[in-house]
Formats: sequence, C-alpha cells, structure tokens
Amino acid sequence: MRRGLAFAVLAAAFGGGLAAAVHGSAAGITSLLILLPLGCATVFAAHAIVAARTRIGGLRRQFGLLAAVAAAQLAIAVGVFVELMFVSRHDAFFAVLVAGFTGTLSLWAGRLLGRRALTDVEAVRTTLGAVGQGRRDVRTNLAGHDELARLGADVDAMVSTLAFEERARRGLIASISHDLRTPLTSLRLLVDAIDDDLVADAAMRRDYLRRISTNVHALSALIEDLFELSRLESGDIRWTMERVMLDELVQETIDAMRPHADARAVAVHAELAPRLAAAQANPEQIQRVLFNLIQNAIRHTPADGSVVVRAAPATEGAIEIEVADTGTGIAGDKRDRVFEPFFRGTDHDTRSDDGAGLGLSISRAIIEAHGGRIWLADAASGTSVRFRLPSVAGQPAR
Ligand SMILES: Nc1ncnc2c1ncn2[C@@H]1O[C@H](COP(=O)(O)OP(=O)(O)OP(=O)(O)O)[C@@H](O)[C@H]1O
Ligand SMILES: [Mg+2]
Repeated sequence: MRRGLAFAVLAAAFGGGLAAAVHGSAAGITSLLILLPLGCATVFAAHAIVAARTRIGGLRRQFGLLAAVAAAQLAIAVGVFVELMFVSRHDAFFAVLVAGFTGTLSLWAGRLLGRRALTDVEAVRTTLGAVGQGRRDVRTNLAGHDELARLGADVDAMVSTLAFEERARRGLIASISHDLRTPLTSLRLLVDAIDDDLVADAAMRRDYLRRISTNVHALSALIEDLFELSRLESGDIRWTMERVMLDELVQETIDAMRPHADARAVAVHAELAPRLAAAQANPEQIQRVLFNLIQNAIRHTPADGSVVVRAAPATEGAIEIEVADTGTGIAGDKRDRVFEPFFRGTDHDTRSDDGAGLGLSISRAIIEAHGGRIWLADAASGTSVRFRLPSVAGQPAR
C-alpha cells in the first residue's frame, strides 16, 4: 500500500510539475490538487480489490472491477478538469467525447487480451483436472512465449514424464511378476508331485530337493536384488566410504571368479596401471559392480575368448576401470537400454544361467551413489563397460 501511495504522490507531483512548467504555477497547483486525491483514492480502491480478490470471484470479475476503477478515475479526472478549465461547452463536449472513446477502446482491448489469457488458464486447469482423474494423454498445447505458454509447456512436460514413469512402473511390475511366477510355478509342481506320492525312491527325492533348492535360491536372489535396487534408487545408502586400493580389489575379484571363467574356457586377466591412486569408495559395493561386469563378460563370451579388466587414472581426480571382453557384443538398438532394470538381451524363462536383468542397473545405482558414472564404451569387437570413481584427493598410490 505504501509503495502504491508513494507512486501516486510521485505521479501527481510529476503531473503538477509539468502543468506548472507549461502553464504557470497556478495551473500546477490546481493540477496537483486534483491528481493527488484522485491518485490516492485509486490506490486505495485497487488495494481493496486485491485484498478481497478471493471473495470477489473469478479472474474475469477481478479484472472487471479493476477496469471499472480505472474508468471511474478517468471519468472523474476528465469531469473535474472540464469543469474547472474549459470555458467553452463546445470544447468540453469534444474533450469528454475523445476521453470516453479512447477509454472505452482501451477497456475493450484489455478485455480482449484478458479473455485470451483466461482461455489459456482454463486450458491448463482442464488439463490438470484430467491428469488428476488419471488421464495421461492430455496436453495444454499452448503456443507462444509468454508466462502462460511457459506454464502450459511445464504442465505438458510434467504429464509426459508422468506417462513415461507410469509405463516404466507397469513394465517393471510385469517383469517382477513374471520372474516371481516362473520359479513359484516350478516349486508348486515339485511340491504337488511330492504330495501325490510320485517321488518313489531316494535318488528321485534328492533330485526333487535339489530342484526345489535351485528355485528357492533363484527366488531369494531375485528378491534380494530387487530390494537392493529399490534401496539404492531411493537414496537409502548405509555403507561407509573408505580408502580402497582398486588394483588389489580388481585382482581379488578376478581370482575369485577364475573357477567360473575356467569352467567356460574363458581367460580373465587384469591390466593395472602402476602406482594407481586409491579410490574413495566402499570396497564391498565396488566388488559387487566388478563381479556383475565380469560375470556378464564371461557369460557372453564363447569358449577360448578373453576378458580383461583395466584400471588406470582418468582425468584429474578420477580412476577409470574397464571390463572388456571378446564376446558377442551388444547390438546397437539394445545399447541404450542395458542399464534399465529387467532389460535382458535375450528372452528366457528361468534364472538359472542367464540373469534377471538387474546386474547393470544395480551397478549403475552403486557407481552413481559413489559420485561416479558408468557407461557402455565403443569397442571394435565384444563389449566394453567402463566406470569412473573419484580418487582420494592428493593421496599418492603407496
Ligand atoms: N558383456 C556383455 N556382452 C554382451 N551382452 C551383455 C554384456 N553385459 C550385459 N549384456 C546385455 O545386457 C543385459 C543386461 O545385463 P544385466 O547385467 O543388467 O542383466 P543380466 O546379466 O541379464 O542379469 P543379472 O545381472 O541380473 O544376473 C544382458 O541380459 C545382456 O543382454
Ligand atoms: Mg548381469
């Protein structure tokens, strides 16, 4: 209110000053005496309308009332000036005519623009209402560059994101149900067979127990992976960071996986840069990432192929690790999707040798939680997955 009044006083002073400069001090004082109360009254009226806007009703009515105040101010100003200054009725008539005409046209122009703006507001409201009722195929489609168009674009982008996330969530639930159903169905069949006394001898019993155990193991591994992924994605990180010698960790992981690689006749070895700096990381989690990547590499590399794990300093303050294989590689159309949960290159029904499609998404969540990044690098043949971790600042290797 104070600012409004100060503005009205300033405007009146300017008007009075202008009148004094052009027509002398008497005209200046008269103008000031007319403009000052008029300006203050307008400011009071406008503030009263703004303060009561929620009670007045829609924007249409609020703008209408403000326009009425502006029109009343114009009418009073013209009326008073005409009464005080014009001697000829003829001149007064035309001054009122012109003021009335321009005032009406301005109100009309204001109303036209206001109507357009209100139509845009209505489009946003209708879209949000439909989104609230569950629809995701609606858009405001507002064109232009003003604030309302930007609001419409933001709403449209939000609805698109919601639609995308809902599709992804539905896909995720379908994948989870499918992967849970497969071992559960096997378990039910095995248990039914035992129940129906179909298991005749000890050897058959051992075989059934082994198959039950495999399915139970698959179920608990899947549930554990899912739990881990949802924890990581919600930012619930419970591990502690420490100084990790990545070269030692890489060697340890390779040694642990060697029997698995040997069984498939795949050679695995490390190429480690000398004097590699330590990383600030959680060793168990990084080992889990290395395990996922090396397991993938072995799984997709035919016999007599090889897997190499390289670790070297990257740009300032980071260490880069690469797991490269001479295997089948990943086709172009799948490269963008391998880090999505449940994305698998091939369709299969069990989690025996092939996985659930969670390894890379868990690895990405772990690396990102460390402040690093993981990506599929270009490779002439086979596959190369790389990730970067921040190294311990200012610490030489050993
Ligand atoms: N080294 C690789 N060579 C070829 N394809 C790969 C390689 N690594 C990953 N992929 C492809 O990416 C998909 C997703 O990998 P990810 O590790 O997320 O899942 P998975 O290995 O299928 O299952 P999980 O890791 O849960 O056991 C794989 O199914 C596979 O098609
Ligand atoms: Mg995997």
